[in-house]
Amino acid sequence: MAGKVRVAFVGSGGMAQAHTQAMEQIRKAQVVAFCDLKISRARALAQKYEAEAFKDVGKMLDTAAPDCVYLMLPPFAHGEAEFAAIERKIPFFVEKPINLDLKQARKIAKAVEEAKLLTCAGYMNRYRKGINRARTMLAKDPAIYVNGGWIGGTPHPSPDRPITMWWVKQSKSGGQFLEQVTHTVDLVRYLCGDAAEVCAYAARGFNPKIPGYTIADAMAVAIKFKSGAVANLHSACSSNARGGVTLDVYANKCAFQFTGWDHACKIFRPGKEPQEIPGEPNIFTLEDRAFLRAVETGDPSSVRSSYADALETLKISVAANQSIATKQPVRIR
Ligand SMILES: NC(=O)c1ccc[n+]([C@@H]2O[C@H](COP(=O)([O-])OP(=O)(O)OC[C@H]3O[C@@H](n4cnc5c(N)ncnc54)[C@H](O)[C@@H]3O)[C@@H](O)[C@H]2O)c1
Repeated sequence: MAGKVRVAFVGSGGMAQAHTQAMEQIRKAQVVAFCDLKISRARALAQKYEAEAFKDVGKMLDTAAPDCVYLMLPPFAHGEAEFAAIERKIPFFVEKPINLDLKQARKIAKAVEEAKLLTCAGYMNRYRKGINRARTMLAKDPAIYVNGGWIGGTPHPSPDRPITMWWVKQSKSGGQFLEQVTHTVDLVRYLCGDAAEVCAYAARGFNPKIPGYTIADAMAVAIKFKSGAVANLHSACSSNARGGVTLDVYANKCAFQFTGWDHACKIFRPGKEPQEIPGEPNIFTLEDRAFLRAVETGDPSSVRSSYADALETLKISVAANQSIATKQPVRIR
C-alpha cells in the first residue's frame, strides 16, 4: 500500500473518539468515514476529520472504499457490520467484547476464517510491556493461581453519555463481567491459556434503584484452566468507598501484580527486589499502529488478538452468566 491507510468507523460514540484521537499520532492513518444510527454523532466526527458521514454500513463501505473498518458498537449491536465487512473482504477491528450472542459470534468467526480476513479485537492490554514480560516468564514457570477484576461504584445512567444507558441493561451489555472484566478474562487467557470450566455467583439488590438497571451488583467467577491453573475473577459496580483494576498472578518461582487501568506491573522473585514496569498511557495508539501495520503490509503478525482468539474469551464470559442462570459449573467448548 503506497499511500495512507484509509479507515472507516461504524459506531461514532466514545470509543470511535478514543481511536480517532489515537490515530492522530499515526502518520499513515487517514480517517475517511463514520457511520452511526444517530447520524448527528457520525456527522460531528466526520466534520472534525474532514470525512464523510453515513447511516448505513453497506453504503459507507461501498462509497468510501476504506482499507479497513473499526466496529465501535455496543455488545448488543453486532452482526450486520461484521457481515458487511466480510462480504466486501474489508479487514476489521472490533472493540471488546466482540458480541453478546455466542451463536452469532461463532458464525462470524467461521465467515472470517472462510474469507481468510485480517481481524483485530480491542484487547489493548496485550500490547503492554509488563503483560508481555509476564507472558514470556510464565511460558517457562507456568501460572498456578490468578486473582483479579474490576471494582467500581454505583452507575448513574445519563443520556449525555450513551454508554451509561446501555451498560446497566443485562440484555444490552451482558453485565459488567462480560462487558468490562472481559479485559481481565482475556489477559488471564493470554497468560495461562484456555479455560476448561467456569463456575460463577452473582450479588444483586445492593445498589439503590437505578432506571433500567438489570445487571448484577457484583460477580465472583472461578475458572479452571486446561493447564491445571485456577483463577478467581470478580466484578463489582456497587462499591462507592473503594475500587480499582487489579490482576495478581502467582507461579512457582515468580509472581506478578498489575494495578490500575494501565496495568502497571510489579515482578516478584524470591530473594530479589521487585522489578517495576510502568503502564503505557498511549495504549490505543500502540494497538492501532499494530493493526494498521497489518492492514498495510498484509502480515498479521503484529496483531495480538484476532476475532477467533477473542471468541475464546467471550466463551468464558458467556459461561459465567450461564453458570449463574443454571447454578451449575459450565464446561467451555
Ligand atoms: N477498549 C476499551 O477500553 C473500551 C472502553 C470503553 C468501551 N469499550 C467498548 O467499545 C464498544 C463501544 O463503546 P462506546 O463507549 O463507543 O459506546 P457508545 O455508546 O459511546 O457508542 C456506540 C455508538 O454506536 C452507535 N450504534 C449502535 N448501534 C449501531 C448500529 N447498528 N449501527 C451503527 N451505529 C450504531 C450508537 O448510536 C452510539 O453512537 C463497546 O463494546 C464497549 O464495550 C472499550
